[in-house]
Amino acid sequence: MKPVKVGICGLGTVGGGTFNVLKRNAEEIARRAGRGIEVAQIATRHPNSKCDTGSTPITADIFDIVNNPEIDIVVELIGGYTVAKELVLKAIENGKHVVTANKALIAVHGNEIFAKAREKGVIVAFEASVAGGIPVIKAIREGLAGNRINWLAGIINGTGNFILTEMREKGRTFEDVLKEAQELGYAEADPTFDVEGIDAAHKLTILASIAFGIPLQFDKAYTEGIARLTTADVNYAEALGYRIKHLGVARRTEAGIELRVHPTLIPADRLIANVNGVMNAVMVNGDAVGSTLYYGAGAGMEPTASAVVADVVDVTRALTTDPNNRVPHLAFQPDSLSDHPILPITACESAYYLRIQAKDHPGVLAQVATILSERGINIESIMQKEAEVQDGLVPVILVTHRVVEQRIDDAIAALERLDDVVDKVVRIRVEQLN
Ligand code: HSE
Repeated sequence: MKPVKVGICGLGTVGGGTFNVLKRNAEEIARRAGRGIEVAQIATRHPNSKCDTGSTPITADIFDIVNNPEIDIVVELIGGYTVAKELVLKAIENGKHVVTANKALIAVHGNEIFAKAREKGVIVAFEASVAGGIPVIKAIREGLAGNRINWLAGIINGTGNFILTEMREKGRTFEDVLKEAQELGYAEADPTFDVEGIDAAHKLTILASIAFGIPLQFDKAYTEGIARLTTADVNYAEALGYRIKHLGVARRTEAGIELRVHPTLIPADRLIANVNGVMNAVMVNGDAVGSTLYYGAGAGMEPTASAVVADVVDVTRALTTDPNNRVPHLAFQPDSLSDHPILPITACESAYYLRIQAKDHPGVLAQVATILSERGINIESIMQKEAEVQDGLVPVILVTHRVVEQRIDDAIAALERLDDVVDKVVRIRVEQLN
């Protein structure tokens, strides 16, 4: 059978990795796909020193790829929302299948892209858009298809996890580790996407959609980054038996769906609390299977290429199938998506770590306890660091039971009005993940 012809748009970290994996494993891949897979053209403005492209035709114009009649599958690895969207829509219009690693594009414009792809009977595959090399989309969409998914929670930004790990284990500065992550090709072109949680929110939006059968709704995700975390809180969390991780959480409740990304205290003995460096992990809880955990490299040249190439193989196998009988883009049939609403963060429920900087007076703890109990907030543990009294101020650290966020907001406002409390109260959400 004639080989399938692939066009790669972008020969950066992931594009270069994809080219190399397709070339190095060509024989093994052909045995899996049932026919050869050949890179027929590459679009790039800069050569990649890690790729020996040999006689593969190269163009500087990405639109040459989507207009090349030879090409069956367009691999979009340029990133961003604007040109990438134009490119993908043009590829679809030209009847080409698309494989992309672009989480921003899928999270923000996926509904429109999938509608267009259905119209044209083509596949848009996006395994590499979430958690790099971990095949978590396939696991949720296909492997867990018998379940009603209750919740999922994941460390889904490698750069952020790398920064938190290096800060915690080696005491390195935030800026120093971020620079290394950029040099290693982990970070986004705009690294604020990593540290402010936007990249994780893109990925969480995609996971929630395929887990719960809802449209992609990135604009409704709550996003909080890691830039304001302090070493003091990392250490107090440890003393209480927790690790701080930057987590994406999606949970189905009666009232709606929680969709939130934020630093989170996790019990230190959970497997996911011990996921370090650039590694990602996603826990998915289904009613039949219980809790499952998917772990692996969340970024990097060949781990991400692994997911891209798997999609290319999947598309190759499905080329001759009836479009109506393929796995739906978002796991659920497009006319069966649910309109269960996404909850605002004030309606989400979590436990909380609070750090209150209080004057070292008798009765302060009693005032704190009163404010919390008046709002029905139960305290799980409390720690007052007498040894750390400085300028007459003592840090009071407590962890609450689960409560709706609005009540914690009210309690924090009341605490900050107390004469004996100085500074803002630090609040970090806590998840037991059990
Ligand atoms: N910047 C992303 C990360 C790349 O660090 O996880 C992979 O999506």
